[in-house]
Amino acid sequence: MSTDIIVSGMRPTGKLHLGNYHGALKNWVELQDKYKCFFFVADLHALTTAYEHTENLAENSEQMLVDWLSAGLDPQKCTIFIQSDVPEVSELNTLLGMITPLGWLLRNPTYKEQVQELLARKYAGQLQGDENTPLAERVKGLADEDISVYGFLGYPVLMATDILIHKAAYVPVGKDQTAHLEIARDIVRRFNEIYKTEDVFVEPKALFTKVAKVPGLDGHKMSKSYHNTINLGEDLDSVRKKVMSMYTDPNKKKATDPANPEGCVVYAFHKIYNPDYAKRCEECKAGALGCVACKKQLFALMEPEMKAFLERRKVFEGDKAQLEKILHSGKEAARASAAATLQQAKRAMKVIK
Ligand code: TRP
Repeated sequence: MSTDIIVSGMRPTGKLHLGNYHGALKNWVELQDKYKCFFFVADLHALTTAYEHTENLAENSEQMLVDWLSAGLDPQKCTIFIQSDVPEVSELNTLLGMITPLGWLLRNPTYKEQVQELLARKYAGQLQGDENTPLAERVKGLADEDISVYGFLGYPVLMATDILIHKAAYVPVGKDQTAHLEIARDIVRRFNEIYKTEDVFVEPKALFTKVAKVPGLDGHKMSKSYHNTINLGEDLDSVRKKVMSMYTDPNKKKATDPANPEGCVVYAFHKIYNPDYAKRCEECKAGALGCVACKKQLFALMEPEMKAFLERRKVFEGDKAQLEKILHSGKEAARASAAATLQQAKRAMKVIK
C-alpha cells in the first residue's frame, strides 16, 4: 500500500454503462487497495453545462453512488463523497480562480472541444458535412450562447481544486482530460511562484491505466447520448437482447462465411470478457462459428458478473440509511483533508495570518 494520494471524480450522469465501468470504475476498484483514494461525485461539474436541467441531479448522484458501491468501491478502503458536500472545494476554487489567467482557460482544447460537442448534440439535425468532417466545421454557425457561462470556462479551475485540495500525487483520468490536468499543474506552479511557497500543493500526475475500449452496440463509442449503451445494472433479459443485436461484420451472411473480427462489436466485447479471445478471432476468420453462437457465448460470459452486480445493487439501493451513512463519513473525511489544505493556502496567500 502506497501512501500516495489519488483523487478522481465522475460527473453524475445517472446509472453507469459498461463503458464507464471498464473504462474507469473497475480501475478505481483496484486502486483503492494500492493508494489512499478519494473518489467523488462531481455534481458541481455537472452544473457547469447542465445548469438548466437540474431536476434529476441529486437522484443521478445517488444512482451513481449505488453503482460505485455495487461495483466494489469500499468506503472502508477509500473516501467516497459528493463534491458539493465539501464547501472547502468551493472556497479554494474561488481563491485559485484569482490567479488563473483567462488565456489558459480560453485556449484549453478540452474546453473548445466540449463546446463543439455540446453544440453538436443540441443541433444534431442541423450539422454540416458528414461524420468525417471535423466537429469544429460541422457546428460552424450554430448558436453558442448556452454554455458561454463563467462556470463552464472555469471547469478546469474547479477540477484543479478537487485534486489539489487533497494533495493528490496521481489522478486516474482518460486521455481527454490531459489538458485539464496540465492546467492543474500550471496552477500549482503559478501559486508557488506568486506566494513563494512549495508547501501547500502537490503537482498531480495523470495515471493512465490500460483500460478496455468499449464500443456501443452500433460500433461507435459507447455513450448515453448515442443511445447505444448497456448499463452496468441493466436487467439480464435486456442485456441478452442487446448482445444479440450487436453490430457484426456485414459481409458475413452465413454462419460458415469467414469474417473480419476487427470492427465487430461482439469481438470487442469478447476481448473484455473472454480470456480465450485470440482463439475466437481465429475461429471468426476461418468461418468456424456463426455470429449467433458467438453472441450467445458472449452473453454467457457477461452474465455472472452482471448478475452479481445486480444483486449487490438491489441491496444498496434499498438501504437508504446505509447510503446516507457512507456519504456522511465520506464527507467528514473529505472535509478534514480539504480544510487542512485550504488553511495552508489561505495562509500562503496572506488571507489569514
Ligand atoms: N472532468 C472529469 C470528467 O469529466 C470529472 C472530474 C471532475 C475529475 N473533477 C475531477 C476527474 C478531478 C479527476 C479529478 O471525467
